[in-house]
Amino acid sequence: MIRAEKLGRRFGDYVAVEDVNVDIAKGEVFGVLGPNGAGKTTTLRLLTGLVAPTSGRAEVAGISVIDEPERVRTKVGILTETPGLYARLDAIENLRFYADVYGVNDPLPKIQHYLERFGLWSRRHEPVGAFSKGMRQKLAIARAVLHDPEVVFLDEPTSALDPESSRIVRDLVEELRAAGRTIVLCTHNLDEAERLCDRIGVLKRTLLHVDTPKALRRKLYGHLVEIDTLGTVPDAVLEALRALEGVREVTARGEGCVASIADPRTDTPRLVSLLVERGVPILRVAEQARSLEDVYLDLLREGGRP
Ligand SMILES: Nc1ncnc2c1ncn2[C@@H]1O[C@H](COP(=O)(O)OP(=O)(O)OP(=O)(O)O)[C@@H](O)[C@H]1O
Ligand SMILES: [Mg+2]
Repeated sequence: MIRAEKLGRRFGDYVAVEDVNVDIAKGEVFGVLGPNGAGKTTTLRLLTGLVAPTSGRAEVAGISVIDEPERVRTKVGILTETPGLYARLDAIENLRFYADVYGVNDPLPKIQHYLERFGLWSRRHEPVGAFSKGMRQKLAIARAVLHDPEVVFLDEPTSALDPESSRIVRDLVEELRAAGRTIVLCTHNLDEAERLCDRIGVLKRTLLHVDTPKALRRKLYGHLVEIDTLGTVPDAVLEALRALEGVREVTARGEGCVASIADPRTDTPRLVSLLVERGVPILRVAEQARSLEDVYLDLLREGGRP
């Protein structure tokens, strides 16, 4: 549904984005993570035909962003960082205006649906200029999906929203995905990325890594297994555990230990067998999840090379 090849954009001498290669399938939710200034918004603008690439190429729904940027924009819904709404028009008028531009048939029921959903229905006749930041953002999200586009680009959709509204947006993303829509989501919220996205691309001028949230966490850093035992694990046993195949590191921790291993399916049973052999009573064995945030920060610190 979205394909980019060596996509890049310079601003004068400054290279904001370079060599982005990605293939996003129909129905996929693709997250873009990256620090401030990493080029997330620029990449979104490139993929929606809002800014022209200075290198490479990209297609959305089979349409080239270079040759037919206007046609790309009719196929997509976009929430930009600074959604331009008409301050003097009210909420309904704003959405009606966009519904007309996109040729939405019978837009009023849809407009009512989204305004109710985002808790804006009672404020529908007020000029949007008097709306709070979060209210404007919700209206802009409604606008992005009103014409039921095949591909939806959301640039930090929940950044200004309270927890309840964020939840409504996340539910909307799930719903769009269930309906087979393709979604690209820039976010700084790692928890959100992990919950919503099928794959995550870590972007810092270029895509450093693309993987499922789970694989991203695991591929780079292996697995941690926590073992609680009755009494402390003797040093000689810790040494023997460290010598096992697939085990990278074992550290004692209170009554028990934490082992860093390559593959839990083969290595955890080895750890357990050895402890049993040495007569150390096991109370609990659990795989310890590393948060995506840990991995992400390490990744950026290391310049993306694991
Ligand atoms: N129109 C422009 N003219 C000049 N430089 C630009 C322009 N747009 C973006 N840049 C530069 O490109 C880089 C990437 O910006 P971009 O907005 O894509 O980052 P981002 O990843 O979205 O950051 P944030 O998390 O802060 O939103 C920045 O250094 C920015 O200053
Ligand atoms: Mg941005």
